[in-house]
Amino acid sequence: MIYLKHNIVPIVTFVTILFFFASCYYDNEEALYPMLNSSCDTTNVTFSGTIVPILTNSCYSCHSDANAAFGANVHLQTITDVQTNSAKLIVSIQQTGTKPMPPGGKLNTCSITQFDIWIKTGMPNN
Ligand code: HEC
Repeated sequence: MIYLKHNIVPIVTFVTILFFFASCYYDNEEALYPMLNSSCDTTNVTFSGTIVPILTNSCYSCHSDANAAFGANVHLQTITDVQTNSAKLIVSIQQTGTKPMPPGGKLNTCSITQFDIWIKTGMPNN
């Protein structure tokens, strides 16, 4: 038991120090997204106020329920549709995969970042 106790103290100390340094890290939006200009709202990203307008402007001509025939039957009409397709969606709009979306060109950096933020914050229905 004495032996164990002596081993555990340096481990606990080490882990404590590790947590101390880890806690110094914090997310700074300007540091994380240096390409954005100040008019891009990255603090109030919501599904209804941010994501739906992007979808309406750039995606619903092919991915609404009514138009999905033009979008290989990929539906992005409801939040559940969007959540279900989120992994493919982010690859598509970042245009790093084989199916770049929208097909006619890239969304602006602000919209792509807002999508990324919404997905990373757990795709809230807000
Ligand atoms: C002009 C029509 C059109 C528009 C506009 C469009 N898409 Fe698509 N989308 C397609 C087609 C066609 C496919 C099927 C592509 C394929 O299978 O090669 C597709 C496929 C997809 C997929 C599935 C990708 C995969 O890996 O299977 C996603 C996700 C997607 N689109 C998202 C979007 C988003 C988000 C937007 C708006 C930013 C958008 N699309 C705009 C036509 C469109």
